[in-house]
Amino acid sequence: MKESKSAQYLKGNKKGAAGKNDKESQSGKTQRVLKDFKDLSQFEEELNRREVSLIEREIKTIRMQEELDRLRPLSGLYRVVKAMATERRLDSLLDTITRETQAMLKADRCSVFVVERFTEPGGSTSDELWTYVAQGLEGFRKLRVPLNGTSIVAYCARSAEVINIPDAYEDERFDPDVDKQTGYRTRSVLCVPMTNRSGNVIGVFQVLNKKDGPFTSEDEDWLEGLAAVAAGLIEQAQAYEEIEHFVDNTLSVLAQTIDKRDPLTSGHSHRVMKYSKLLGQSMAIPDADIDVLHYSALMHDYGKIGVPERILWKEGRLTPEEYAEVQKHASLTFELLSQLRFTRRLQDVPYIASCHHEKMDGTGYYRGLKGDSIPFLARIIAVADVFDALTSKRHYRNRMPIDKVFEILNSGKDNHFEGRLVDTFLKLPCREVLTVMESERDQPPSPEIDLFKHITWLRLTELVSGSHPKRGEEDLLNAFDRLYFRGLSEDYQALD
Ligand SMILES: [Fe+2]
Repeated sequence: MKESKSAQYLKGNKKGAAGKNDKESQSGKTQRVLKDFKDLSQFEEELNRREVSLIEREIKTIRMQEELDRLRPLSGLYRVVKAMATERRLDSLLDTITRETQAMLKADRCSVFVVERFTEPGGSTSDELWTYVAQGLEGFRKLRVPLNGTSIVAYCARSAEVINIPDAYEDERFDPDVDKQTGYRTRSVLCVPMTNRSGNVIGVFQVLNKKDGPFTSEDEDWLEGLAAVAAGLIEQAQAYEEIEHFVDNTLSVLAQTIDKRDPLTSGHSHRVMKYSKLLGQSMAIPDADIDVLHYSALMHDYGKIGVPERILWKEGRLTPEEYAEVQKHASLTFELLSQLRFTRRLQDVPYIASCHHEKMDGTGYYRGLKGDSIPFLARIIAVADVFDALTSKRHYRNRMPIDKVFEILNSGKDNHFEGRLVDTFLKLPCREVLTVMESERDQPPSPEIDLFKHITWLRLTELVSGSHPKRGEEDLLNAFDRLYFRGLSEDYQALD
């Protein structure tokens, strides 16, 4: 057995003491040796005590590490559950789940693949798996994997089986081409299928390269649990998306039913929606308001369903009685849309839509609201609505020359319209305005629209009004004439 340092020291000291001083009395020697021995034995005891304390501390650290390892999945799960309780956005939720999974299973990478039907340009369809989120992948870009392909992920989705591979290069299902493309070296792979409530595979949860050895059966259990959570969230989000898509489609068709009653107003609601959004975005309104603006603008004239066609289709100017009849459409818009029971997010749509004929000075209809009491989004729609009406052909007049349109918008500042909204509208990029103007035509938009990418609508108006063209603006007037009067009859005459 190895002697401790203090024991060696004790022996050496004894040796040295024996031949040193023969003149010392035996009892003095004995006393000193005894004192030395006492000191040394205390020293040795202290050393032993410290050694034991160090070992104890080391054991404690190892136990704590083991305890931490044991608790890691639980604390990860806690954070996942917490995120589910507080976060609604699917992207953010899946980001949390994959990040925690990566840490829980000590994996280098963690990805969620979702099955999606992809329509080829020719109309044929193919199912593909595409990465929804990917942790550990630098500069994440979406990966698309054919469902009928040879990859492990595709095999997992097709077979609906858990696949746990300790060494990918030893497995024939692994395609090393992916590693070649990305410069990554795949070792261990664990894939778990994600199924919906009907039992169909909707995606795959994959972790790669466990840090200390292959993935265990315990890892499989954890991943299956987390995959079930992720599948539930994805299924819920997809169902919600389908409902939103259905609502969006339904409202869009409803708006068209109004516009299509008369070929001349065809596309009016959609264009007003698009102009309103351009203006709203330019005013930097919040994203949530953009959605409310979208549906309010799209449905603003829905009440016209109650206006008789003999009035709507009348050629020439309307009598005061007929005009009063047309004005009823604003209150009818409110009445009808209120019955649609919009979700809380869109609950203001009927009110905002029905305020599009209110004027800043209080002379509008049908509530006669004034200034700030008119919802801001309705003030935006008012500008967009009048702009589209003036720049569209009507039964009682042709498209209005745009210098005249400018005059009407400008003179309406602060009495009809909110002044800063008119200013912002006029400063919109000309190309964007023309794109909306051309969007509801039967023919595809003219490629000449691109010529207007460097000027504002206001600058175009100045050019039309006789401003001298700057360099690069020389061809714009002719190009605009071709665009603006395209499809109008030869005997076109602008009437106001
Ligand atoms: Fe209207």
